[in-house]
Order: sequence, then C-alpha cells, then structure tokens
Amino acid sequence: MAERIEVEHVSYEYMTDQRSVLAVRDVSFTVEPSEFLCVLGPSGCGKTTIMNMLAGFMDPTEGEIRIGGHRQDGRSIGRGVVFQDFAQLFPWRSARRNVEFGLEVRGVSKAERHDLAMRFLKLVRLEDFAESYPHQLSGGMQQRVAIARALAYNPGVLLMDEPFAALDAMTRDEMQRQLADIWQQTRKTIVYITHNVAEAVYLADKVLVMAAHPGSVRAEIRLDIQRPRDPLSDAFVEAQREILSHLNHRPSEPEPGRAPPPIATTRRSTASVTQSNPEGGIP
Ligand SMILES: Nc1ncnc2c1ncn2[C@@H]1O[C@H](COP(=O)(O)OP(=O)(O)O)[C@@H](O)[C@H]1O
Ligand SMILES: [Mg+2]
Repeated sequence: MAERIEVEHVSYEYMTDQRSVLAVRDVSFTVEPSEFLCVLGPSGCGKTTIMNMLAGFMDPTEGEIRIGGHRQDGRSIGRGVVFQDFAQLFPWRSARRNVEFGLEVRGVSKAERHDLAMRFLKLVRLEDFAESYPHQLSGGMQQRVAIARALAYNPGVLLMDEPFAALDAMTRDEMQRQLADIWQQTRKTIVYITHNVAEAVYLADKVLVMAAHPGSVRAEIRLDIQRPRDPLSDAFVEAQREILSHLNHRPSEPEPGRAPPPIATTRRSTASVTQSNPEGGIP
C-alpha cells in the first residue's frame, strides 16, 4: 500500500507572544504512490514545519494536504515518521519491542507482532540485535530501529526528517544505501527531508528545492538517473550542479545595471560539491 500525497497552496504561520512568523508560504507539490521525494533547503526554510503538517501534528494555516485522498489535519494520527533525534526510541524497550509498539496499540496478537517485528528488523539488518536496548546500539542502529518501527505500522507514506543528519559521514553513506534498498523492496511513498545536496541526488526521484524567509518552493527537479546511483558519475555531478544553481540563485540579483558577482564565488560554490565539500551539504 503506497499512497499519493497532495499539498495544495499550504501556508503556516507560527503565533508567538510578540509576533507571528510566516514559516511556509503557498507551498504546493504532489508525491505519486511509491515515489521518493526529497525536500531540500537551508536551515529555517520550513522543512520540519511541512513535515509536521504532513504527519498530521499541525494544521496548515492555509491550504490543504491530502494523503490517499483523505484530508490530513491536526486530528490525523502521525504514523510512519522518522526523526533526526536518536532519542525517539523508548529506552525501556528492546529493539524488537520498540518495533512492536504500534502493532500493540493496534491490538495485533503477540505471535504476529513478534513475526512482523523480526521481519522488519531483518529488513534493516538488525535481526541479531532484536533483544538489545537503545543504549546498547550505535546511533545508526537506533535510526534503523526507528525505520523498522515506522515501516511496521505499514503506513501509506513514510516521512523522514533528516534521519541521518547526526550520523558520521561513513555511517550516513551506508544508511543511504540501505534506505534505497528498503525503498525498492517496500515501494513506500517517501518524503525525505534533508539539507544535503548529495543525499538528495542519491535518494530522490524528485527534489523540491526550498528557499527561506518565508519558506517557499524554488524549483522541482526530476532525477532520472539509473539506480543504484554512482556519486562519481557525470549525471550525478550534473544533477548536484543544477540543484545548487537553484539554491544559490537570489531572485533579487543581479539587479539591472549591477555588476555580476565575481566569478570566483561561482567557481568556489561549484567546487565545493565536487571537491572541497565531500559531504555535499549546502555551502
Ligand atoms: N514553534 C515555533 N514558534 C515560532 N517560530 C517557529 C517555530 N518553529 C519554527 N519556527 C520558525 O519557522 C521557520 C521554519 O522552521 P523549521 O520548519 O523548523 O525549518 P527547517 O526545518 O527547514 O530548519 C523558522 O524561521 C523558525 O524560526
Ligand atoms: Mg528541521
């Protein structure tokens, strides 16, 4: 079961004591069933706000979100969500019993829960750690338990908010490979939030490039690069360059009659993807 996501003219305004903050302005996009969408943008551009609305934790101030044709709002139950924070697991439950949690809530029998949990732990290659507790697992392993738990709910969509951002670069590479495998095996609709250009190009069918203040969509880029993707291939590097050109583009410049920015700046930003910034984060 993979569902379609429709986001139509969605805005979100935070109300604080002194003032209101328009975090997201008029964002629209769709994610087809089984499609892998990456939402990419700098810190503060409203990525987590969008994720919280997709998960049903918050209502859009304006616009509408539909998942599988049903309107998603503050009364919907957030399922299939994986956060950046390692502390999302229950520390008093083993890996297996963390994965079983949602099934317990749903009233699935003990035997069936056990079988399903083991199946998803196997999918994230943790079947040998089923009885370990979160504090006995590395950060990457804990994130894999969180992914197994999200998948065990059998959600129509899997929502991931920078789930690997706090991992070291090598573990992150391995987790990205595993996630690409898991997606190919489960064919879930995935929305994956990142501020890392290379990560988006490695994972996504489609990348939504966002700009901040207020958070809005700057470009939607479809990636038809063959999988598994090779970060050293021409197509991969070219896609990174295209995405960076949208990220670096300032609508207000160059102003008419104003000298273009120095070439060195442009070169440095390009080189930062291919050479000096191997992690591919937003420069
Ligand atoms: N609870 C909140 N109250 C007021 N402003 C907020 C709150 N959460 C986020 N914001 C503001 O909304 C904007 C988008 O935040 P967020 O969605 O967390 O961005 P991102 O995940 O892309 O870093 C930022 O300007 C942030 O300061
Ligand atoms: Mg965020």
